[in-house]
Amino acid sequence: MIDTSKYTYKVSAAGRVNLIGEHVDYCGGKVMPCALSLRNTVYVRPNGTDKINLEWTDLPDKVSLELDKLESYKELKHAKYHAGCAHLWREAGHKVVGCDLLLDCTVPFGSGLSSSAAIEVSTIAALATAADEKLDPVEVALVAQKAEQIYAGVKCGIMDQYASANGKAGHAILLDCKTLEREYIPVNLGDCAIVIANCNKPHNLVESKYNERREEVETALTLMKKHFPITCLAELKPYELEEYKSILLPVIHKRAKHVVEECERVRFAAQAMRTGDMAKLGEILNASHESLSTLYEVTGKELDSLAHAAQNHPACLGSRMTGAGFGGCTVSIVKRSGVEEFKKKVADQYEKETGYRPAFYDCEISDGIVVEKL
Ligand code: GLA
Repeated sequence: MIDTSKYTYKVSAAGRVNLIGEHVDYCGGKVMPCALSLRNTVYVRPNGTDKINLEWTDLPDKVSLELDKLESYKELKHAKYHAGCAHLWREAGHKVVGCDLLLDCTVPFGSGLSSSAAIEVSTIAALATAADEKLDPVEVALVAQKAEQIYAGVKCGIMDQYASANGKAGHAILLDCKTLEREYIPVNLGDCAIVIANCNKPHNLVESKYNERREEVETALTLMKKHFPITCLAELKPYELEEYKSILLPVIHKRAKHVVEECERVRFAAQAMRTGDMAKLGEILNASHESLSTLYEVTGKELDSLAHAAQNHPACLGSRMTGAGFGGCTVSIVKRSGVEEFKKKVADQYEKETGYRPAFYDCEISDGIVVEKL
């Protein structure tokens, strides 16, 4: 049991699963993530000093950050994120006060369920709470995204931090990443459930491959802008891209094709969610995976094997990788009555093919930032 008696607030933010709209947030597309009950929790109390003291429930480390040196902790292993968040939050014009923080994370690391976004968002929300500030979850998300870009070196879009901060229990967020307009769509899956499975293959080179994809789609945008009055790739229609296919290198065309088609899929998926058409939603998930595998090339052997094992199971309506890819999780829509058998069969098949045993997570769709007075 962790002793939380000395803290005054419990502040948490969510991990997320993205249902559809993968690798389009940084192209101005729409995405459809859900915040999860897998969370990072920060117990906090103001301490009246000029230090932020950090402790973890699952690490022996204890770190003390001086408020007037927050920019100088870039070399720290874990605490660089917290120092970075505090620094950027203050740079954005907010008060940061000395406080004690105890951090407890239930989002599995490296799973593609945005443990880092949950850590960044909850840290900033805890700092704001300690300083008695009113919270704007959208602003928290934007500063957290900047922290991820600077301190993790990933030129990420806004999806993860936005979902982590602004999620709503029982709902998916249909987020327009160009305008940050959002609509909450109730997740009523009828007799189906969402099943999240981790392929358990250690991630590697995610940052560099992610940044490489971003450069590729930026190249596509620069070239397409010469022919269409667009500000982002999400504004381009699939047929418009095909008209100018010949001016793009094949690899650049493939990347852009994924983006414009995935944007269309999000529209259809939102419709299927609203009308409760699970068969349609499942088909769209399968098509998204195929595109991420063959056009965007961010899946790899393990995620392909896991998604295909799921897709081939009779209780499954659709399955795809979720998050950045190169390892991490799949999300599947599965008939409730078949979930247990699905997990067993998929795990056996996947293990036979890859040598890794997948993990399944029992979790719910929950709120983004939650602040509780203790
Ligand atoms: C990572 C990034 C997000 C998004 C996804 C892919 O999770 O942090 O911004 O680009 O990959 O959809």
